[in-house]
Amino acid sequence: MKYDFTAAIDRRNGDSIKWNRYGSEDVIPMWVADMDFAIADPIKQALLDRVEHGVFGYAEVEPSLRQLAVTWLAQRWDWQIDPAWLVPLPAVVPGLNFAVQSQPQLTSLVWPQPVYGPIAQVAEHLGLAGATFGVSSDGWDLQQLEQQLQQGARTVMLCCPQNPIGKTFSLSEYQQLAKLIERYDAYVISDDIHGDLVLDGQRHLPLAKACPQLAERVVTLIAAGKAFNIAGLPFAFAVVPNAQWRNQLQQRLAGFAPAPDVLAMTALTAAWQHGAPWLEQLLPVLTENRDYLIETLADLPELTVHKPEATYLAWIDCRQLGWSHPAQRLRQFGLGVSDGSEFGQAGFIRINFACPKATLVEGLARLRQAVLATR
Ligand SMILES: Cc1ncc(COP(=O)(O)O)c(C=O)c1O
Repeated sequence: MKYDFTAAIDRRNGDSIKWNRYGSEDVIPMWVADMDFAIADPIKQALLDRVEHGVFGYAEVEPSLRQLAVTWLAQRWDWQIDPAWLVPLPAVVPGLNFAVQSQPQLTSLVWPQPVYGPIAQVAEHLGLAGATFGVSSDGWDLQQLEQQLQQGARTVMLCCPQNPIGKTFSLSEYQQLAKLIERYDAYVISDDIHGDLVLDGQRHLPLAKACPQLAERVVTLIAAGKAFNIAGLPFAFAVVPNAQWRNQLQQRLAGFAPAPDVLAMTALTAAWQHGAPWLEQLLPVLTENRDYLIETLADLPELTVHKPEATYLAWIDCRQLGWSHPAQRLRQFGLGVSDGSEFGQAGFIRINFACPKATLVEGLARLRQAVLATR
């Protein structure tokens, strides 16, 4: 079946935080990380069938869903896991907080910056000390990470691929990192929610697969929310080979996490069972949008665009423009983006290009107008 990624679906006046933020203002929203595309037909059909059933009592994660996760990770990421390692989570962000809390040697935290805001907020939420190390298209700043490990940090939170810069990490980058993790007896929680969104026909390499020697030290968080555009139907898994960490995580969740959401599990099951053809059509659309964005902005020396290797998010350095709050400035020109300050790097913006081409064309025209008006 051929899917249509060109239709402009009206999301105004509904429950979308992306579209509600600007109310009746003439602003194209290209900020929060969800896509303006309709979900795959098999997911929609599975949801309709489940709703038709009509009874929505407490649910549990069936062995068949665990098996689907195993198969998905084997086929998409070439990563073999044991279904017993899977711990169901209400969503990735709560799972991240719970996974940190249940870490075997909980001390201070460290994470690469710029990063997705809720990762940077974990330390504050849990009342722990926290510090950052740099990350850019050139990789992690491992010297900075080592300094933090020397000062006692033992929990490293990663985001692979990295939101917002869209970087994927290579085997050698992971191996360098792994040396530090082992040397300092540290633990890693890797948020791989964007792992199915690697562009240019490439595939995601998770840390735990790249460095099997770290198996007992790594928790990997996986979900279908980003790749299948079902973030409003939250559900995630933690992959936890370490039995002690897994038991502690399960104990933490008890009493805090709700029973698994029936519709979220229905959507996830359909996505992993029948969603691959949709995803295979989506990825070239995202790659094309990414390339269009880069070409369209190439003649503006005021902007430095970091080419994302994964995700549908472009990270743009606007510091030469001297705007104190780029997102506020762009809103005046009718474009809604995320401000770099939300990710710990002021002077940048993050643009979500997971929209029909016509929307992207108009959004980028507005961005150009704003830059030209500053000359
Ligand atoms: C890196 C990263 N992790 C987690 C999330 C959110 O995941 P969830 O909705 O499952 O908590 C996002 C959403 O943008 C994200 O970019």
